[in-house]
Amino acid sequence: MSRTKTVFITGATSGIGLHTAIQLAQKGFRVLFTGRDIQKIEAVRRQLENITPAGHVGYPAELTSMREASQVADAVRQDAKHLDVLISNAGGVYQKRVVTEEGLEATFALNHLAPFVLIRRCIPLLEAAAPARIVVVSSHSHYSARVDWSDLQCEKKYQPLLQYANTKLMNIWFSKVLDERFAGKGIRSNALHPGVVRTGIGYKNTNLLGRAGWWLFTRIKGIEPEAGATTSVFLATEPQGIEVGGKYFSNCREKQPSPAALDGVQAEKLWEISEHLENKVFQ
Ligand SMILES: NC(=O)c1ccc[n+]([C@@H]2O[C@H](COP(=O)([O-])OP(=O)(O)OC[C@H]3O[C@@H](n4cnc5c(N)ncnc54)[C@H](OP(=O)(O)O)[C@@H]3O)[C@@H](O)[C@H]2O)c1
Repeated sequence: MSRTKTVFITGATSGIGLHTAIQLAQKGFRVLFTGRDIQKIEAVRRQLENITPAGHVGYPAELTSMREASQVADAVRQDAKHLDVLISNAGGVYQKRVVTEEGLEATFALNHLAPFVLIRRCIPLLEAAAPARIVVVSSHSHYSARVDWSDLQCEKKYQPLLQYANTKLMNIWFSKVLDERFAGKGIRSNALHPGVVRTGIGYKNTNLLGRAGWWLFTRIKGIEPEAGATTSVFLATEPQGIEVGGKYFSNCREKQPSPAALDGVQAEKLWEISEHLENKVFQ
């Protein structure tokens, strides 16, 4: 008898992550997921149990905090013996520069350093399930990234959309290095753009003008969150998600990312700096 497959998804209490969780539960997965609001987490857990009673678990975690990212990985290690798929989906953008208690700029902390801390702590669970997959939700906006290595925390200048684009480029770099390091152990990692999706992302951590702009942009160009989950579900379940690694997908197809995204030297540099930042937080 084949065992139930397990997926761990960050940020599954709304938007793309929620619909990824629903679609994977419909395919018979046991879903472990994070959120930050206890009531939303419990509502999602019940919704998933109604689809397939598989012992789904939701974990509260504020993912601008590396301590909470680490604690959630510990909790997952307690509850699961293996992970077939890990989907790094939680993300957002802070309109104004916010510095966390750990001294990190919040958009960088949430979109890049939390996945860096959390995914690496889950590697033994992925290895236990090999062949296993890591799916990193990046964005088309990475094409407009301009990473200033001398100011990753934006102490000199903070431009929210640029910092968002930079962290989405970092997602592709991180996924690429993960694949290089762990493909030999049967873990493949790919990044993706989900489409322009009508979610609440552009209504959070912003002002009225920002919310109005997001509403208009997504009314004109956006797809519904159900459709926004398609490429994440594709990489989590279809053979391509395990046959190739270090790639960038859009609309369930491999796509050429920006030239910067292919730069292995910068990708390695980010890994080194991230280890250093992580060590500083946990010293
Ligand atoms: N929407 C798009 O057009 C689009 C395009 C390209 C890429 N993406 C990427 O897709 C991913 C999902 O975005 P989405 O559009 O589905 O956004 P969303 O609807 O806002 O959902 C984001 C998820 O992450 C959680 N989250 C947000 N901030 C968090 C924090 N500080 N700590 C812990 N959890 C947090 C949210 O929790 P709550 O439910 O409590 O808010 C939610 O579960 C992101 O990585 C985003 O960059 C989105």
